[in-house]
Parts: sequence; structure tokens; C-alpha cells
Amino acid sequence: MSVAVACPGSFDPITMGHLDIIERSAATFDEVVVAVVDNPNKRAMFTIEERLELIGAETHALDNVRAESFSGLLVDFCRERSIAVICKGLRAVSDFEYELQMAQMNYRIGGVETVFMSTSPKHSYLSSSLVKEVARLGGSIDGTVPPGVEAALRSKVDAPGPA
Ligand code: PNS
Repeated sequence: MSVAVACPGSFDPITMGHLDIIERSAATFDEVVVAVVDNPNKRAMFTIEERLELIGAETHALDNVRAESFSGLLVDFCRERSIAVICKGLRAVSDFEYELQMAQMNYRIGGVETVFMSTSPKHSYLSSSLVKEVARLGGSIDGTVPPGVEAALRSKVDAPGPA
């Protein structure tokens, strides 16, 4: 049986932690769809097109991975693509409560299973929000995001106007 999974998130932008989960999902499952949420109510640093492009550039060597955007319910995105499983990274106990709620709700409303993959300890403190904050305030983000993403982040931060 072939198993396709969705790896959902905002990916604003993709970090080494995300990439670790995507790569390990690609090694574990037959097909991985990185599902990038397009939420107009959440102010993002990167447009949906930019986020998809950055993910595409970092995952192009993985033949069984593709990235797509979605709006609305994740379970609808999964149903439309016959994806029965969501794969999410868990960084710490603090992630667990909300992730469990979402997993239970997604099963209830869509019958979609969620599997949790433990984040590699070297990435367990990473989040896109923290990386953006450190970049905005001039700190080093070396090693937290892939080099191409770091360059994109730096140009956003250095650009005039709100980043
Ligand atoms: O990277 P994030 O912001 O933690 O990802 C959260 C995400 C995209 C997985 C979650 O917000 C989501 O699934 N949004 C889609 C809307 C939806 O299905 N909501 C009900 C969740 S039970």
C-alpha cells in the first residue's frame, strides 16, 4: 500500500526544523505533500508564492516531495488529494497540547489520521517566528534556515518598509 502524507504549516519561512521533518517524512512515506496554508488573516513576511518557491528550492532533490498552497480546512485539502495521513513534527511537550487538539479535530471532521515525528534535538528550539525576530534585530540566524532562505530573509529585513 502506498502512503501519501501532508506536512502542513505556515512555512514563513521554511526552517532547518521543517526541512528535517520533510526529509524524514520523504524517507518514511511514499509521497509527501508540503501543504502551505494561505491565511489572509495572518500577516506573513513571505508571500505564498515566495514560501512555495523557497520550499521547492530546498526539496527539489527529493522526488517524492511537492509543495502546494491551500486555504480553508486542511482535511479538505487532504480529501481532494486522497491523503489519509498528516505528519507533524513535535518539538517539545509545549507543542503537544495544541497539536493533539488539532489531530483529534482533524480525525473527527475528516477521518484524517495524524502521526507525530519527533524533531531532531538540534532543531527543537527553532521556529519561523523566532528566526524572523532574530533576523530583524540583527542577530545571527546562521544554521537555523538553509542558506537560500537566509539570503531571502536578509533581503526582506534590509528592504525599506515593513518586513
Ligand atoms: O505552521 P503552523 O502555523 O503551526 O501551522 C498550522 C496549520 C497550518 C497546520 C493549521 O493552522 C491548519 O491546519 N490550518 C488550516 C485550517 C484548519 O484546517 N483548521 C482546523 C484545524 S483542526
